[in-house]
Amino acid sequence: PALTLLMILVAYLVGSISSAVLICRIWGLPDPRHSGSQNPGATNVYRIGGRWPALLTLVFDVLKGMVPVWGSYYLGINAFYLGLIAVAACLGHIFPLYFKFRGGKAVATALGAMFPIAWEMALLLIITWYAVFRISRVSSLAALVTVSLAPFYAHWIKPQYTLPVIMISLLILWRHQANILRLASGKESNFKRSTKVAK
Ligand code: G3P
Repeated sequence: PALTLLMILVAYLVGSISSAVLICRIWGLPDPRHSGSQNPGATNVYRIGGRWPALLTLVFDVLKGMVPVWGSYYLGINAFYLGLIAVAACLGHIFPLYFKFRGGKAVATALGAMFPIAWEMALLLIITWYAVFRISRVSSLAALVTVSLAPFYAHWIKPQYTLPVIMISLLILWRHQANILRLASGKESNFKRSTKVAK
């Protein structure tokens, strides 16, 4: 139990490191929290700085979910708690300790956390995201469809993780409120490089 609590804390602290903010700072780009969609995530870093800083943001955000859950798995922590550790990493990304608790939407971090839990599921999530993205070119829509299907995938592939996956999906859906409103009004920005602010 002490080890599990420690890993929950570690996952939250690792999740709290905002890759988008740090990479934009190092790259000499504007702060992603104040440009584009104002979200510190890979999609918005792409709008601001293009492919390479966005890819780096994506990789680090995925690792933030993957590393604590994988580490916990090797420490012998059981399935139910691995799910909670995944939730903690996502909560760190959404409410980062070092960035005034104002973080991102946890799509990449959640994906990373899924790999050690069920790589088949992570693969299915990537395929779903990419299929919707190819058709729509809208990153938020791809994320919304993917996280809505994720609990069903979990139930089918690894039922013991259905509850934590539902928790993560609800968190991500809730973080996409502004995107949902923009999608409903046809104003959501697609995957284009731009610094225009989507309001
Ligand atoms: O992963 C975040 C994505 O779903 C939406 O990002 O910047 O378009 O709000 P953004």
